[in-house]
Amino acid sequence: NRPVVAVVGSINMDIVVESSSFPQPGETVMGRSIAYFAGGKGANQAVAAARLGADVRMIGAIGSDNFGSELLAGLKAEGIDTRGVKVTEGASGIASILVSGGENEIVVVPGANGELRPEDVAANASLIEEADIVLVQLEVPQDTVEAALKLAKTYGKKTVLNPAPAGRFPDEWLPLADIVTPNETELAALVGEERLDDPLVLQEATNKLHMRGASRIIVTLGANGAALSLGDGEIARVPGHRVTVVDTTGAGDTFHGALAAAWAGGLELPEALAAAVKASALSVTKEGAQTGMPTLEELSSWMS
Ligand code: RIB
Ligand code: NA
Repeated sequence: NRPVVAVVGSINMDIVVESSSFPQPGETVMGRSIAYFAGGKGANQAVAAARLGADVRMIGAIGSDNFGSELLAGLKAEGIDTRGVKVTEGASGIASILVSGGENEIVVVPGANGELRPEDVAANASLIEEADIVLVQLEVPQDTVEAALKLAKTYGKKTVLNPAPAGRFPDEWLPLADIVTPNETELAALVGEERLDDPLVLQEATNKLHMRGASRIIVTLGANGAALSLGDGEIARVPGHRVTVVDTTGAGDTFHGALAAAWAGGLELPEALAAAVKASALSVTKEGAQTGMPTLEELSSWMS
């Protein structure tokens, strides 16, 4: 039986412009290239899980524009069940991504994603009921995310809360998430710190979050892999992999899709975590959020 993953989240067109420098306010610089990639944290995570063999159901919203139909076709081409994707009048979500010297600046305009309502979650309750795991992020309205977490828990499903972007959500959600998965910046925001790079600080921060109701915490550490905290005072580390980085956009999403597929597929959490770290390392070797997401075959044959 294939693991079933439901994703409630955003669907964006990523418009990627490359230039040799970032313009200052009021300045114009000449760019090198423009490219359009399917993106959005929700859609990216759905695609990552589907490539790794999960049966994926997407709940989201696209606009009535050309981007919307392209994005929908892309999800279908990945074998994702899109019955839960609604079409709203107006623009699809976009992310304007400016890339220079390996760094990026991103502006997200939610468009249709901002129209995804708690009622849409309720209308697609069967998709959540069919799932083993429900994955949510913070690129759709808060009350929608909350509705998804609550419904998933009503059905006794595993839930993964990816507090991206921004890392802010009500503490009442913590007990609704089987795993909460901030990166270092989001974890810092959650516990009201400026930054956290010291391992001790990481431990203190996760402890604070456990005290506030988090059961399991995974901190994603970029090139350094990830850390798992189960609330027993120990932090287990999964080291990162050395790869040639082309584009890190969507690396975190690859991680989440892979984690969900592997965990729902029956792996123990530490093994699922190792698979997720590996998948996200592979994903950064290609341009675009979804392009480099590995298939099951690519993941298992990849040596590093
Ligand atoms: O996590 C990466 C994604 O965030 C991009 O695909 C972009 O759409 C932004 O939403
Ligand atoms: Na990539």
